[in-house]
Amino acid sequence: MDNRRKLIVNGGRKLEGELRVHGAKNSALPLLSAAVLAHGETVLHNCPELTDVDAACRILTHLGCRCKRSGDTVTVDATNVSGYEIPDALMREMRSSIVFLGAVLGRTGRCRLSFPGGCELGARPIDLHLAALRQMGADIAEEHGYLDCTAAGGLHGAKITLSFPSVGATENILLAATAAKGFTEIHNAAREPEIVDLADCLGKFGAKIGGAGESVITVEGVPRAEPCEHSVIPDRIVAGTYLCAAAVTRGELILTRCEPRHMNGFIPVLEAMGARIYTYGGGKMYLSCNKRLTAPPTVRTMPYPGFPTDIQAPFTALCATAEGTSVFVETIFENRFRHIPELVRLGASIKTEGRVCVVQGVKRLSGAKVCAAELRGGAALVTAALAAEGTSEITGLGYIDRGYESLEGALRSVGADIKRV
Ligand code: UD1
Repeated sequence: MDNRRKLIVNGGRKLEGELRVHGAKNSALPLLSAAVLAHGETVLHNCPELTDVDAACRILTHLGCRCKRSGDTVTVDATNVSGYEIPDALMREMRSSIVFLGAVLGRTGRCRLSFPGGCELGARPIDLHLAALRQMGADIAEEHGYLDCTAAGGLHGAKITLSFPSVGATENILLAATAAKGFTEIHNAAREPEIVDLADCLGKFGAKIGGAGESVITVEGVPRAEPCEHSVIPDRIVAGTYLCAAAVTRGELILTRCEPRHMNGFIPVLEAMGARIYTYGGGKMYLSCNKRLTAPPTVRTMPYPGFPTDIQAPFTALCATAEGTSVFVETIFENRFRHIPELVRLGASIKTEGRVCVVQGVKRLSGAKVCAAELRGGAALVTAALAAEGTSEITGLGYIDRGYESLEGALRSVGADIKRV
């Protein structure tokens, strides 16, 4: 990680104004992998400019697709998919590259990739992905850190019951099922909006998909997927981060191009803390916060529609200056409190114990040098720095750039004193 680049934040400025929310990283990546399935040119609008999206495009190019970007539209021509192997270096660039497995296997009947292994958030097992693909007829060998998957006679539909509603596993099954012969049923499927977005796109390819957004999804595969044009849904985590940033400075913010329905897992928490929030039609939302917030009731991260694990870190930053004690229970990932020691450097009073963290609200934070160790934790440090007295320096920007399109540019446009040097 390049620690020469940093964000310099002079805290204490109120955020006021309007921000447009960009497309969702967690939708764009599976949609880019879906493009591998289509015989022709898939056009994705509202595709965010993020380093993770660039990494996905490099994987597509390596597989023989032609990828080009014009503004927020990315075009993927998968007419001549020639490869089935994703090199280790590309796998390591982006942990979510595992979502290419279902698509590449479906399109070519083979996929070889290096085992994704652990990441910043802890172990990221893929046993559910592999068990499901085996049920669909894949033969999978795990050797020397590589996964070699073949489906010589093609994949077939299956009835799959997930022991946990894994987002990644549900995506890989949807992708594989689109190319499979026959009918697939996914029980205990993930219900995230990103799943619905992927299912919508696969439906345009010609697959018949029912129940996306519910616990049971049915898929009837299509013999030849035809390409389509699709628009990526707004990023609910980016929207939530902007709201936390505005609230921590006791500011006033209008979000445009967001989808308030997707944020029901955490908007009520912000309201319980004392923020006033109004939603309008047409993807608009307003937040205002003119007093010190109060600690919310215990927050437990859960699969959708519960409180998202991805927004836990920015909320801990928000609670750092709230009145009272907040408790967070992280149920999804084992290692998602790496930002806490850095928040403590900024003057927060927080203790972690396993998967629980207890935030004792303090009146003020003070600027410090801190380092991001993962994407959302990095956004939490920026959030806290906006409220801290004095100057903060934040390094580890490579993580933040994976999921936020110029976070500093967006925040500066609504009044933050923040720059990248
Ligand atoms: C997760 C989040 C998703 C978020 C994304 C990026 C949940 C449920 N999922 O998706 O909202 O956008 O990270 O940060 O909040 N697991 C297994 N075996 C598997 C797959 C998963 O045991 O084969 C376990 C994981 O260890 C973890 C949990 O299931 O405890 C969540 O995994 P999953 O939803 O698959 O993670 P992502 O797809 O990365």
